[in-house]
Amino acid sequence: MGVQSLAVACGALALCLALTTATNPGFMVRITQAGLDYANQHGIAILEKELAQLKMPDISGDSRVLRVGKVHYELSRLRLRDFHLPYSRITPISNMGLQVSISNAFAELDGDWRVKVFFVRDHGSFNLKVENIYIKIILRLGSDTNGKPTISTADCSARISKVRVLFSGKFGWLYNLFHSAIESKLRKNLESKVCDNVVKSVHNDLQTYIQTLPVTARIDDKTGIDYSLVAPPKATTQSLDLALKGEFYSLGHRSTVPFSPLPLAFPSDHEHMVYFGASSYFFNTAGIAYHKAGALVFEITEAMIPKDVGFRLDTSVFSAFIPQLEEMYPNMAMKFRLSAPTAPFLTIGPGGISFQPTVDAQAYAILPNSTLAPLFLLSLTGNVSAVINVRSGRIVGSLDVGRIRLSLKDSTVGTFQVRMMQSLMNIMTSSTLLPRLNGENLLGGMGVLQHPPFTLLLQVAPAH
Ligand SMILES: *[C@@H]1O[C@H](CO)[C@@H](O)[C@H](O)[C@H]1NC(C)=O
Ligand SMILES: *[C@@H]1O[C@H](CO)[C@@H](O)[C@H](O)[C@H]1NC(C)=O
Repeated sequence: MGVQSLAVACGALALCLALTTATNPGFMVRITQAGLDYANQHGIAILEKELAQLKMPDISGDSRVLRVGKVHYELSRLRLRDFHLPYSRITPISNMGLQVSISNAFAELDGDWRVKVFFVRDHGSFNLKVENIYIKIILRLGSDTNGKPTISTADCSARISKVRVLFSGKFGWLYNLFHSAIESKLRKNLESKVCDNVVKSVHNDLQTYIQTLPVTARIDDKTGIDYSLVAPPKATTQSLDLALKGEFYSLGHRSTVPFSPLPLAFPSDHEHMVYFGASSYFFNTAGIAYHKAGALVFEITEAMIPKDVGFRLDTSVFSAFIPQLEEMYPNMAMKFRLSAPTAPFLTIGPGGISFQPTVDAQAYAILPNSTLAPLFLLSLTGNVSAVINVRSGRIVGSLDVGRIRLSLKDSTVGTFQVRMMQSLMNIMTSSTLLPRLNGENLLGGMGVLQHPPFTLLLQVAPAH
């Protein structure tokens, strides 16, 4: 019974794990208020252009004017000359999406008027200045089944507090007598038109555009990356978090990944515009894809070994371990071809990155006519750990390699003991290789970012 209930518990646990980890992202992007402020500068220009295309309906009505009587008026061909949005802000709204607030916007319109008083008719043009326009738009963000973002208008309100209309022409004075009635009509029309256009343009333009965006990208001729959303964008009062799949795959045929992403936790930091977080899933799917593509092959030649190391890559050095080499291939240059028999798998924990690579190292002698003669195949295993940090804007890293173990897998030069070679390799790694790599700052090539606008975080939730 004990065994049976254990099996049930394990089954349930496996199911729970599958259910809870299915939605974990491999890559995360956090956009903070500073990032939204930056986006605002670009987004508002688009909205400004969109609002400048507002189409206003004609207005007609009757007004009773003192000492004149009933006046019938018509306003037509209303044209919006421009729409300015000088103050705007995009802020995240918890569990909803984004709020776009626009204040003190102003616009200018012109059009034609026509009046009829008794049997007299006249027409002219008018100019309308609209000021103190306040617009509040709430956008609901979500994701669809393909992992594409969705956007819709959850709420829109527009308020205009100042409208001034100026009529010119012979009967212009007449209009100016009942301008307040007309102004309030124009104001109400404009208020509703603004929101109509916002809803329409969010639905027709923004959402349609988003639907055309791909959720995968080709990286090279063999691999691609899937960055579809695994959950709807999550807004808090401080930021907008995008949980992306972050999964590499080989273009040939995409197979299911044999492991699930671990939860990725962001620290509560909001100084920079954008934060990126990558989990081990991101790197490990990359490892699988590149391994499948045959890209994890690396050659070590004599030219790559620094002159001051006191080590030459030739058969005379290796004949100390393998006496047969001396007779078979005397004084010949050598070359190693390193490849990974399986995809590398790394783990990221609070202490840094660690992985246990297994590397096949095939040794060759380079014959005088440049032909490669295979000598022996070694299997190397070791523990590698790295700590990567962002310290005052610099990405710094340090690398540590645990004891390397060697074993002989194949040889065309007879069998030999790898013990001595293994000891020498370990001594050279710890006394020469590592101090060199760490001293030169391994990640120097990633550049020094002074005041970076973003931060890269490699982190998973604390180990459970
Ligand atoms: C290179 O030299 C080796 C041994 O001398 C010989 O067996 C091989 O056929 C040569 N290869 C070519 C391409 O000439
Ligand atoms: C790597 O480290 C783990 C635990 O830290 C240990 O069990 C394993 O034997 C090590 N492997 C090698 C090749 O040193």
